[in-house]
Amino acid sequence: MRVPLIAGNWKMNNTIEESLDLANNLVEFSKKFDKNREILICAPFTALHALKKVLNGSKIKLGAQNMHFEESGAYTGEISAVMLKDIGVDCVIIGHSERRQYFNESDELLNKKIKTALKFNLKPILCVGETLEQREANAEKETVRSQIINGLHDINIEYLKNIVIAYEPVWAIGTGKTATSKQANEIISYIRSVIKELYGVNVSENIIIQYGGSVKGSNASEIMAESDIDGALVGGASLKADEFIKIINY
Ligand code: PGA
Repeated sequence: MRVPLIAGNWKMNNTIEESLDLANNLVEFSKKFDKNREILICAPFTALHALKKVLNGSKIKLGAQNMHFEESGAYTGEISAVMLKDIGVDCVIIGHSERRQYFNESDELLNKKIKTALKFNLKPILCVGETLEQREANAEKETVRSQIINGLHDINIEYLKNIVIAYEPVWAIGTGKTATSKQANEIISYIRSVIKELYGVNVSENIIIQYGGSVKGSNASEIMAESDIDGALVGGASLKADEFIKIINY
């Protein structure tokens, strides 16, 4: 059975103090929360160490939003998987559309990052999704297909249980425009079929595939009711404890 994963992506927001405040609220909530659900917050690098102390012993997992593919070396300004493991981080977002778009991250680069994350037992959340132009050209399926095939290139089946995929149509991120739950489910089912082609039915039926893009307390239940959607990657609405709690508790 696939356990839904509700993940907050704080992006470039929150000081350490703000991060701890938000995390403390979520930890308090999670103590009484007994639905079968995984909860994750993906915070800026600067807050990870302090957050780990607050989240320790709670149900809430800790994630980073990016990492470098090399283990160490002369890469000024970068953060490695080893450093994230050192803090006790559990997951890392790889290939968010903002990284692809503003930092020119290619599928080939993301593939290297995923391999390094897996090597260090960090669970990568591989983000895929089409732009508005690609959707208008009816190219959404071929776009996610190539992002999946290239992103997972040469990754052995034994690692697939440690990988999460997030389908985030770029036109729905931070725009207030959510894909309809049917549109999201259609592409997520398609992604599952691509995984089946690559790794077989056992993997495709077990892999967690989230939806992301303007998920809020008011639309979470409808989205999560779809057959193939196993969770949400939440940006803006994860910055307010009460709103994020509504989503976790859909
Ligand atoms: P949003 O962001 O919820 O603010 O649309 C989602 C994401 O970028 O992961």
